[in-house]
Amino acid sequence: MRKKVTIVGGGGAVGATAAQRIIDRELADVVLCDVVEGIPAGRALDMLESTPIIGSDVHARGFTTAGGDYRDTAGSDVIVVTAGFPRKPGMSRSDLLQGNYEIIKAVVPPVVKHSPDAILIVVTNPLDAMAYAAFKLSGFPKHRVIGMAGVLDSGRMSTFVAQALGVSVANVHSLVLGGHGDTMVPLPRYTTVASIPLPELLPKERIEAIIQRTRDGGAEIVNLNRTGGAFYAPSAAVVEMVEAILKDQKKILPCAVYLEGEFGLRDIFMGVPVKLGARGVEQIVEIRLTADEDAMLQKSAASIRELVKALPL
Ligand code: 2OP
Repeated sequence: MRKKVTIVGGGGAVGATAAQRIIDRELADVVLCDVVEGIPAGRALDMLESTPIIGSDVHARGFTTAGGDYRDTAGSDVIVVTAGFPRKPGMSRSDLLQGNYEIIKAVVPPVVKHSPDAILIVVTNPLDAMAYAAFKLSGFPKHRVIGMAGVLDSGRMSTFVAQALGVSVANVHSLVLGGHGDTMVPLPRYTTVASIPLPELLPKERIEAIIQRTRDGGAEIVNLNRTGGAFYAPSAAVVEMVEAILKDQKKILPCAVYLEGEFGLRDIFMGVPVKLGARGVEQIVEIRLTADEDAMLQKSAASIRELVKALPL
């Protein structure tokens, strides 16, 4: 029995690109849904017509949720929520809070009703607050609600490290924890290049420059695109998480998850190292942090709490 992944927001660039990556890798049947008319069905049919060419025996279909009918999503193994307004140049992710909360509130209850055993991956920004809202609105256990951010931010950091050192990206493993925003916590001490700790290979000022560019990674692309945010790297990050779940890979990845005391934090969604497998979050990997690293993590948590406080949850 093939797996099934629903992309809520599949009419948008992140969702549609994630769907195509899932189809390219023959991971699962894909359902695209979005409030817009036509586009989800058009994109899904277009993807379906690519399957004979790429040799991928999966199905794709799309529909509009304008009428509130989510029946075609029923029985999904994984639900990815990318629905939401993207940033415009000059906006922070936090500026999207109220508008995107309304979208999360509209889409999460009906989609989880039809797939009560699914694993929910949230992409909508501001990510940590939206993942918290989705957790509360879904009624799912904490191990089945996950926010996508750390894989994206770590991927950006690895890109810049590989460029700085002129090495294969396959050699670089970065770790970025905390919130998905200006207070994110890139950890050079836990970033390696061919198992060599990054601080052994680059001077402090070069590492600081890479950290800053990582923090600004989303905004850099928004400013270049002018009309919307990144979607190639975010969709690749989502699909790495989807694959880890569908193939039960037990892969340790930085993801936003619900904390109940880990890292000294409680009742918050934030990026930490987690083991992803068929159950979703199978373990939170608590790593030792220096006083400075921990202070950055606590500062990031405080900025997330400020956003969540403004939500009627
Ligand atoms: C980014 O950082 C969309 O938040 C996402 O590009």
